[in-house]
Amino acid sequence: MALLNWWQPLRKMLIAPAVLGRNGVLGMNARNRLYISRYNNRAFYPLVDNKLKTKRLAEQFDIPVPELIDVIESQHQVADLQRYLQLLNSFVIKPSKGSGGKGILVLQGRDGDHWIKSSGALVSLQEIQRHVSNILAGLYSLGGTPDVAIIEHCIQFDQSLVGFSHEGVPDIRVIVCRGYPVMAMTRLATHSSDGKANLHQGAVGVGISLLTGKAIFGVMQGQRVKIHPDTGEDLARLQIPHWQTVLELAARCYDVTGLGYLGTDVVIDAERGPMLLELNARPGLAIQMANGQGLLPRLRKIDQLSHAEIRKPVAERVRLSQQWFAD
Ligand SMILES: Nc1ncnc2c1ncn2[C@@H]1O[C@H](COP(=O)(O)OP(=O)(O)O)[C@@H](O)[C@H]1O
Ligand SMILES: [Mg+2]
Repeated sequence: MALLNWWQPLRKMLIAPAVLGRNGVLGMNARNRLYISRYNNRAFYPLVDNKLKTKRLAEQFDIPVPELIDVIESQHQVADLQRYLQLLNSFVIKPSKGSGGKGILVLQGRDGDHWIKSSGALVSLQEIQRHVSNILAGLYSLGGTPDVAIIEHCIQFDQSLVGFSHEGVPDIRVIVCRGYPVMAMTRLATHSSDGKANLHQGAVGVGISLLTGKAIFGVMQGQRVKIHPDTGEDLARLQIPHWQTVLELAARCYDVTGLGYLGTDVVIDAERGPMLLELNARPGLAIQMANGQGLLPRLRKIDQLSHAEIRKPVAERVRLSQQWFAD
């Protein structure tokens, strides 16, 4: 019952573009006006709106990222795609300027001339060529502008998360304000999300305690869920491995990009540990639903920090966030 009490106003506020909510819920207008436009210099947007640029930037600063295999930039390369793919058993193709999981093809295995999606569906070379052509034409890019297709290594996720994510790699979204982590959630792939852990594709969002890396509770399609819909796994048992490293990696992304209001997406590779998947300069607000808390009180705390506090080392910033925002 107590849950329903915060849940209904929270849903209303997120659906209507409210400015400031009761419960400290951040609405869309307030996010844009008080955080994105105040803390994010537009000149830095291209670094995060283009996954290839983000990857190169991260590599420059020794932030681990999924290994880049190739970049397809022209129809000429599309015609020759078999040569690029012939030795690959698993890989991911994505639009460099895409978002929300759109246009991402996750291929986890091979069966003769075909590749296998995580759902088991087979994909032919011709289908991949058509898909890449669509990416180049800008079908999935921000603003419909021409794009390039990234081919990258397919992450094998950490064993401890098996059962929590179905047919796809879970990612961890951390909102970082002025270099301080303020809220986190993990997104778990489901059969309907087709190998991608994006909420709009049908993934489950689970709020994560900044202090411990443990689950708070889950939401799917705007409804509260306690178990994973495909595996039946109890979401309350979820613990993100390498939690301190995940938070430090996320917090460092502020130093690297200069963006003061940032959504960082991290994945945990079974061998290489936490790595940066992508960055968002306009992160969504649903993280509040998965945490049962509004962002505003936490962001207000960060607004008041002095320049000296903003310049503290990463580990210190993470420690302070964990202390201030322990659930
Ligand atoms: N290299 C990869 N290996 C495995 N899964 C991936 C990889 N890249 C992306 N995915 C899946 O697709 C989802 C969305 O990828 P992401 O790069 O964040 O793009 P978008 O901007 O569309 O959200 C991830 O959460 C993950 O589930
Ligand atoms: Mg993403």
